[in-house]
Formats: sequence, C-alpha cells, structure tokens
Amino acid sequence: MNQERSDTLVLFGATGDLAHKKIFPALYAMVAKGTLTEPVIGVAFDGWDLKQLQARAHDGIVKAIGKVDEKIFAKLASLLRYVSGDYRSAATFEKLKSALGTAQHPLHYLAVPPTMFETVIQGLEQSGAAQGARLMVEKPFGHDLQSARWLNRVLHLVFDEQSIFRIDHYLGKEAIQNLLYFRFANSFLEPIWNRNFVESVQITMAEDFGVEGRGRFYDEVGCIRDVIENHLLNILLLLAMEPPVGRSADDLIDEKVQVLRAIRTLTSDDVVRGQFKGYLSEPGVAPNSPVETFAAVRFLVDTWRWRDVPFFIRAGKCMPVHATEVIVRLKRPPLDVFDPIKPGDANHVRFRIDPQVAISIGAQRKAAGDDMIGEQVELTALDDSKGDMPPYERLIGDAMNGNGQLFTRQDASELAWRIVGPVLGDTTPPHLYEPGAWGPADAMAGFGPPNGWINPAK
Ligand code: BG6
Repeated sequence: MNQERSDTLVLFGATGDLAHKKIFPALYAMVAKGTLTEPVIGVAFDGWDLKQLQARAHDGIVKAIGKVDEKIFAKLASLLRYVSGDYRSAATFEKLKSALGTAQHPLHYLAVPPTMFETVIQGLEQSGAAQGARLMVEKPFGHDLQSARWLNRVLHLVFDEQSIFRIDHYLGKEAIQNLLYFRFANSFLEPIWNRNFVESVQITMAEDFGVEGRGRFYDEVGCIRDVIENHLLNILLLLAMEPPVGRSADDLIDEKVQVLRAIRTLTSDDVVRGQFKGYLSEPGVAPNSPVETFAAVRFLVDTWRWRDVPFFIRAGKCMPVHATEVIVRLKRPPLDVFDPIKPGDANHVRFRIDPQVAISIGAQRKAAGDDMIGEQVELTALDDSKGDMPPYERLIGDAMNGNGQLFTRQDASELAWRIVGPVLGDTTPPHLYEPGAWGPADAMAGFGPPNGWINPAK
C-alpha cells in the first residue's frame, strides 16, 4: 500500500480557516497542473451542502490568487463531495464510508484542532474508513512532550508510522528545501561548515503583524510553541545535519534525528521572552496573559561538528519587518592585516528564506581610494521564486504519493518537545516591547550570538 497513490482525499475541517486560506488554493493549483484528479470529500460539522462548500472554496481561491480560471475551478468543483456531521457521531462516518465508494487508499487529512484527533481516528476505525488509508495531521502536534507522546499513541492505535504524515508547512517551502540542496550539492561549504570556522548561527523569523484575530489560539500557544519548536528548529536541523546516506525519507530524517538527539535541553538561561505592548487587549487573550509574542533562544548542539557553536533562534510578532533569514557567521581572520575589521563584519553566509529567496556571502573588500581601508559587501544570488510551489500543494501531493520526506516522524516530534520542554509555560511576565521594535531591548542586551544579531532588511 505504501507505494500506491491515495485514490481519494478526505478533508476534515473543510469549512475551517485553514481549508479556506491554504488548502483549497493548493487543491486548485494541483487541478490546474493535472496533479489532482481524485475525488475530494470535505467533512465538517456545519450543516452546509455541497454548493456552499464549493462557494467557500471559490472564495478562498479568489482571496489567495486573485483571478480564478473558471474552467479549472469547475474541474475542482466536480471532484468535491461534502459530508456534514458531528465527528462524535457514528452516522457521520457511515456517510463518509458510503461517500468513499470503492476507494481503497484514501488520505484522511485532519485540518482540525488536535483535541479532535482521537475522536476522528476512532470514527475512522470503527467505520472501516481507516483501512488501507493514510493520515495527515496538522500542527500543533501536541503542546508538550507528554501530549505529543499521547497523540502518537492515539495515532498508532489505528495507523502505522509509514501511513502518518505530520505537517510542518515550512518543510514544504522551496527556500527551505534549497538549504538542504545547497549544502549537499556543493563542495565548497563543507570544509568550513563546522566548529573550526563557524562562529555562530542565527535564525530570525520576524513578522510585522500581530496575532490578527487568532488571539485565542495564540494565547494557548505562544511564540516558542507556535514557530520555534517546529518551523525554526527544522531550519536549524537542515543547517546542522550530516549528509544523508541515501535518498529515502528515513535516510534524511535519521540525520535530522541525530541532531535533535544532540541538542541540549533548554534551561531558562537560554531564553529571553517578550510580549508586544497591546497584546493584552487583543480579543481572546487572557487578562495579564504571560504568553510570549517574541522569543530568542540559544541552542547548543553537542556533536563533533558543532560543539560550542551557539545556534540562536529569534522570532516575534510586531517586528519592524516581515522576513525570515539565516546567518552563518564565520570566525574572523586571525590577524587584521589592513585596517581593523569591525566586530560582526567579515564573512557570513546569509540564506534569505522569506519573502524573497536569496543566498549571499558577506565579505570585506577594499573601498575605492588611496588607503587600504575595507568595506563590507555581499555577493548575492537572488531568486524571486517565480513558479514556486506553495508548501501545501507540495505536501498534499507528497502525502497522497506516500512520500514522507517532508513530514515529521514520531521520534523527531517527541525529541523537539524534549528540547524545549523546560522553558514552556513560563508564567513570569515576559519583557514588554514596543510594536515595531526588535523585541525587548533591555532584556536582549548581551543575549545573542558573539558580535551581535544581524537584523534582516525589508
Ligand atoms: C504558522 C503560525 O504555523 O506559521 C503563524 O501559526 C505564523 O503564527 C505562520 O504566522 C508563518 O507561516 P508563513 O508561511 O507565513 O511564514
């Protein structure tokens, strides 16, 4: 079964926000390219009919891409089915079973809150709809190690690991796949990609907006759980891992897991937490909430390659710019042969991940003039990512084909929670920062990579 493509996509949470914003636009793009020809069964609690679901899908696609090609949309609409019902009711799954018809290998996509996973999985099993099926689950995968272990147990009662696809949509991004490709398809990086040459690694994910109506969700989660434990830690793994020994999904994931195993469990000294002023007035946010909207975290990777090289991750809402970037800073030259090089200057490799995609090398060169005085420049290869495949399109396609390379395996899902566990749920008030600042300046003074942070430009 692992080799066979799924013959139906079942979308739980079909009337929800994620389906509207990301999943239907992805399905539309797949239909346009001819990579989706299978039926798509939307399942949701709302007592809608198929026409309403089609209209909602249309609206989501218009909002995502602007103009819709009605011929393509008509094809997608013709693939759509709708099953309405309560996930706690056996009747809902009986309806689903009959909508599945002769399908042998459906992919069940759970775009629903994790609190519903167990109920849906039981319904799938009891109705027989889990047989021969795959399961794709959305983030967040638990909220700590214990809940992730529990969720994994729930999933494994019905599905084997090969049939489970845990999403981290960052892994479906072109620029993030390119990190892996760039590292291991070139030889010039390898000699310097280690503790002998690298001074530090910093990863910044800055968002210039707040919680945008997601206050209630965000207030249960906070920055570390929302993006650091998953998206940004995954970037760190791609930077720190050894080359995979083969091309299979497990070969790649095995190397990431080796890094996860080597990352020290965090302590409170490894974290600075901030909250933007005004967060407490967001709808859905608890009065005096101690939840962080910004965090800077130091990770240490105890491997032969990386021992003592600090990896810093910083992420926040209401930052000055919207950008995600990696800086791998190299050690300074052993001597200043010419003028003294400023701290933090000289060599780095910059991977710009969002919004544009770029790879650049920071270097010193002689500034024009009589004196041997240098200036910092960047040699940049820019890629505006035209034709980039959005992450959901790639991930849904991969899960339908049973390719688990871009998904999180059980061991990785639990190890990540082990690392961040001790710094979760801190109820001390975070340091406040003004919207539009790079986090809480006082608390951040002295916390960061040697020679400082490099703030991404707009
Ligand atoms: C989501 C987080 O997983 O990722 C959001 O819940 C965040 O808070 C989003 O804004 C960022 O994703 P992207 O693809 O827009 O960078």
